[in-house]
Amino acid sequence: METIFITGANGFLGQHLTLYFASKKFNVIASGRGACRIPAKENFEYAELDLTNKQAVRKCLQLYQPSVIIHAAAMSKPDECNNNKEACFLHNVEATRYLLEAAQSFSPHFIYISTDFIFGENGPHAEESKPAPLNYYGETKLMSEELVKKTELLNSIVRIVFIYGAVWEGMRASFLHWVKNNLEQNKKIKVVSDQQRTPTYVIDICNGIKKIIEQKANGTFHLAGKDIISPYQMAISVADVLGLDKSLIENVTSETFPEPVIRAKKAGLKIDKAINRLGYSPLSFEKGVCLTFDKHKN
Ligand SMILES: NC(=O)c1ccc[n+]([C@@H]2O[C@H](COP(=O)([O-])OP(=O)(O)OC[C@H]3O[C@@H](n4cnc5c(N)ncnc54)[C@H](OP(=O)(O)O)[C@@H]3O)[C@@H](O)[C@H]2O)c1
Repeated sequence: METIFITGANGFLGQHLTLYFASKKFNVIASGRGACRIPAKENFEYAELDLTNKQAVRKCLQLYQPSVIIHAAAMSKPDECNNNKEACFLHNVEATRYLLEAAQSFSPHFIYISTDFIFGENGPHAEESKPAPLNYYGETKLMSEELVKKTELLNSIVRIVFIYGAVWEGMRASFLHWVKNNLEQNKKIKVVSDQQRTPTYVIDICNGIKKIIEQKANGTFHLAGKDIISPYQMAISVADVLGLDKSLIENVTSETFPEPVIRAKKAGLKIDKAINRLGYSPLSFEKGVCLTFDKHKN
């Protein structure tokens, strides 16, 4: 059985990855900054680790010598990255370098979680599309991809986009939950319709990564949802699934919310390679929303 070392285990994806692989009977070491915030504490071991501490990273990896590392930790908010570039470089690029260096002596399969933010406009993008990040967060994720590709370790780069799924205490509320909470309180919301994304149900990402591990699939894979939709369409879908009042959702354009950091309007990722090579098979957005809110719909 593989021993999987997960970084960023207190984050949204990291918590899901930890509980998913633990439930599939993998030997899971969940590492995170500070105390463990994952609610169920069974079936995995927690290792407190700040990835910016090079010595601590080496010591921790030497102790566990995992056969797989899933590096999901990052400074993940583009605005925060833009405002604090030095810290962003340290957390997103240097931390990846420390992990790669520490892994050399026991050669695990290194899986790096990246993002559609390494691309510019005119998505959805395929794996081989030309990178052109529009902001510093995207730049640092691309720099890390390049470090990973240079290594001699078996490596996979998994690009993901707009993840959603169940949330619990200790996680930040997702866009879908923000929509639900507002509509339940009969509050009007404005949601943009001139942006496109390929929102991804978090368990689809976990399933895709499991396939990458089982197939020892080297290279870059896009693990995204199959529907290309706007945030406005997502909000309408949430209202439909939960039987909430759609008329509270106002259709607006991006000009309504000027943002300090540039983001692509037409973003998203193509998933043909993952479907054909890995047997990846993501849910429709509607089905993902049903599962997120535990609504069963055929
Ligand atoms: N969310 C999305 O839609 C999305 C889309 C594309 C790509 N991604 C990528 O997917 C990955 C996971 O994203 P997420 O949404 O789960 O983000 P998240 O909830 O912000 O989780 C990131 C985790 O990384 C941890 N971390 C940051 N710096 C660290 C350090 N120096 N040492 C140890 N841990 C550190 C954070 O710790 P604290 O909890 O202590 O802050 C946090 O728990 C990231 O690599 C992100 O770039 C996410």
